[in-house]
Amino acid sequence: MLPAVLILNGPNLNLLGSREPSVYGSLSFEEYWKELKKDFTDFEIGYVQSNDESALVTAIQDARSQYQGLIINPAAYTHTSIAIRDAIAAVGILTIEVHISDIKKREEFRRHSMISEVCWCTLSGMGLKGYHLAMERMREYFRLGV
Ligand code: DQA
Repeated sequence: MLPAVLILNGPNLNLLGSREPSVYGSLSFEEYWKELKKDFTDFEIGYVQSNDESALVTAIQDARSQYQGLIINPAAYTHTSIAIRDAIAAVGILTIEVHISDIKKREEFRRHSMISEVCWCTLSGMGLKGYHLAMERMREYFRLGV
């Protein structure tokens, strides 16, 4: 059976492509997503985007029964959401945090992530490529166990 990974994107990431292109690039996630799926046919990949915190928490809880890996970009909730942090800790799925921009080099209020401590690792500032790198990390883990 193929390992299954859920990509979960938070608020305003549905606007990628038109949203602040100098920070987030000019490709929509839907366009990027097609490329990602082509490069990782050895995985089943699910994708959910929501602007709603409770929907993100529910998606993390529901992931338990279907997915072995989670790649999450909680967007603005990164900096505020104890609920998302607790959900990640509760389900115990191997989780990678991704940020398109480098949150450590932006405004003060973006520098702290509520979720980093409960994630396996964080990739920040690599653009959309961060999702590819996260999938490669997942591949290594599911092939080699590291
Ligand atoms: C983001 C960084 C967050 O601070 C911001 O609120 C986002 C996107 C990123 O991917 O760089 O919406 O998570």
